[in-house]
Amino acid sequence: MSHSTQTRYEQTPAADNTTMFIFGAGGDLVKRLLIPSLYNLDRDRLIAPEMRIVGIDLAEHDDESFRRHLKDFIADNHSESRGGSLDESHWRDFEKRLHYRQGDFTDDAIYRQIEDVIASSGSDNALFYCATSSRFFSDIARKLDGAGLLEERNGQYRRLVVEKPFGHDLESAQTLNANLLEVMKEEQIYRIDHFLGKETVQNILVARFANVLFEPFWNNHYIDHIQITAAETVGVEERAAFYDKAGAMRDMVPNHLFQLLAMVAIEPPAAFGADSLRSEKSKVLGAVRPWTTEEAAHHSARGRYEKGTLDDRQVPGYLDENGVDADSQTETFVAMKVMVDNWRWVGVPFYLRTGKRMSARDTEIAICFKPAPYAQFRNTDVERMASNWLIIQIQPNEGMWFDFQAKRPGPELEMDTVKMGFAYKDFFDLPAVTGYETLIYDCLTGDQMLFQRADTIENGWRAVQPFLDAWARQSEAGESGIEGYAAGTDGPAGAHELIQRDGRTWHKVGEATGPGVAPVPGKR
Ligand code: BG6
Repeated sequence: MSHSTQTRYEQTPAADNTTMFIFGAGGDLVKRLLIPSLYNLDRDRLIAPEMRIVGIDLAEHDDESFRRHLKDFIADNHSESRGGSLDESHWRDFEKRLHYRQGDFTDDAIYRQIEDVIASSGSDNALFYCATSSRFFSDIARKLDGAGLLEERNGQYRRLVVEKPFGHDLESAQTLNANLLEVMKEEQIYRIDHFLGKETVQNILVARFANVLFEPFWNNHYIDHIQITAAETVGVEERAAFYDKAGAMRDMVPNHLFQLLAMVAIEPPAAFGADSLRSEKSKVLGAVRPWTTEEAAHHSARGRYEKGTLDDRQVPGYLDENGVDADSQTETFVAMKVMVDNWRWVGVPFYLRTGKRMSARDTEIAICFKPAPYAQFRNTDVERMASNWLIIQIQPNEGMWFDFQAKRPGPELEMDTVKMGFAYKDFFDLPAVTGYETLIYDCLTGDQMLFQRADTIENGWRAVQPFLDAWARQSEAGESGIEGYAAGTDGPAGAHELIQRDGRTWHKVGEATGPGVAPVPGKR
C-alpha cells in the first residue's frame, strides 16, 4: 500500500498482520473514534500493510457502501472526532482494508464467515472488538469460543476487546468477568478505558516516577486532599437510550475517574510492565474504604441539569432532551468523597466530581498541599496563607501547573498566588489523535498495560457499590435525592456542601491555567 505521508514514529515497528473484526460496526463509536484511529495508525505506518478490518452488524451494507458511509461521516466530522483531517488520497489507500459482513451476533452463521475471512487472510491472528451494547459481550465471547475462534495456535493470537460499560454494578461486572474467563484467558481480554489512551494520563506515571521532585511530597504528610474533576459542557446528545440507564456515576466513575485516582495514588510498580502496574492499581482501588450505605449517602451529591445558558446559548434541561423519560431518575452530575485506606493516603480525602452541561470542559486532578508548618509571616499584612496546589490538567490545555506563594513587589510584605507550569504544546508537537490509537496499537502488539484487569474493574465497582445501594434505597423510600443545577453551572448546592463540610472548596472548573491566560506575576 502506498503512503503519501511520512510516519512520525520512525522507531516504532508496525504491528504484525491480523484481521480485526468489529462487532457493532454501525455504531457511533466506530465512525467517531475507531475508524479515525485506525486511519491514523495506517497514516503512521503502525499497522501491517495487509491488515484487514471487517465490520459486522445487522444493517445492510456491502464493502463499498460501508466505506462510503464511514468516509462521509469522517470527512464531515474530522474535528469532532479529534482525529485530524482526512487526506483523500490516503483514505483511498486506507479504505481498501475495510470490509463488511452483515449478520446477527447471536447467530452462528456470522462466526462461520469470520472463520473463512481469517483463513483467507494470510495470518491466523485475529482481534475481535466488541463495540456493541454490553449485553452482547458474553454472547459474542461464547459464540466465538463455540466456533473455535478463540483458540490460539502456532504462536498466533486471538484477542477480544470490550468497551465500557463493563457491567452496571459489582455483581454484573463479576458475572461478565466470569463469563469471559470461562472461554478465554485473561491475557486474551482487553477491557478498554479510553482515558488511559490520553497522553496526559499516561504522563502522570512519568511525572511521578521519572522525577525525584514529586514523590517525597506525594503522601499524607504533605498533601491535604485531592480533587478529581471531569467537567463537560456537552449534554446527553444523541445518547439518551444509553445514558438514561447509566447516569453520570456508572458512565464515568468506576472507570475513568477511578483510573485517574489509581494513577495518582498507586505505589511505584516494581517494574514497568502490565502485571506490576495493574497489580498496583488493583491494590489501590481495593484500598478505597467501603462506606456503609448511610455514609455513602452522606458523602455524595447527585444533580441533574436544568435549562440554562452555555456559551451565550440557551440549552434545554435534561428532562426535555430527546429520548429522556419525563420521570427519569438519572443523575447527570455526581460528586463524592472517598478515602484510600493505606499507609500513604490515610487521612487524605479524594473528592471526585463529574457532570454534563457544566460551565467549562475541564478534566483535571487538583492536589492541594498542607499549609506551611509554621506561620512565619505573622504580624505582617498577610492575613492567611493560601495553599500550594499542583494541577494536573488532563484536558484541555494539557499540562501541569503549580500554584505557590510569592512576595508582591512593594514595601509591605504581601503575598500573592503565582503559577509555574508546563504546557504540552510548548514542548511537544501534539498530533491530531483520538486517543484510541495507542490503545488499538497495544491490542495489536499484545501490551495490556493500559487495559483494565478483571480485579481492577471489580475493585472499581466495589468502591462505588455503596453509593449505588444508597441511591437505590432512597428511590425505594420515594426520595429523589437528585438536585437540579442550571446548565452552565458547576453542579448542585449539595456538591458544594459536601466539600465545605470539611472546610474545603472545589478548585474552580475551567480556571485558565495556560501561560498567556494565567495572571502575570506582579501585575495584580
Ligand atoms: C465516555 C462517556 O466514556 O467518556 C461520555 O460515555 C463522556 O459520556 C466521555 O462524554 C468523556 O470522554 P472525553 O475523552 O471526551 O473526556
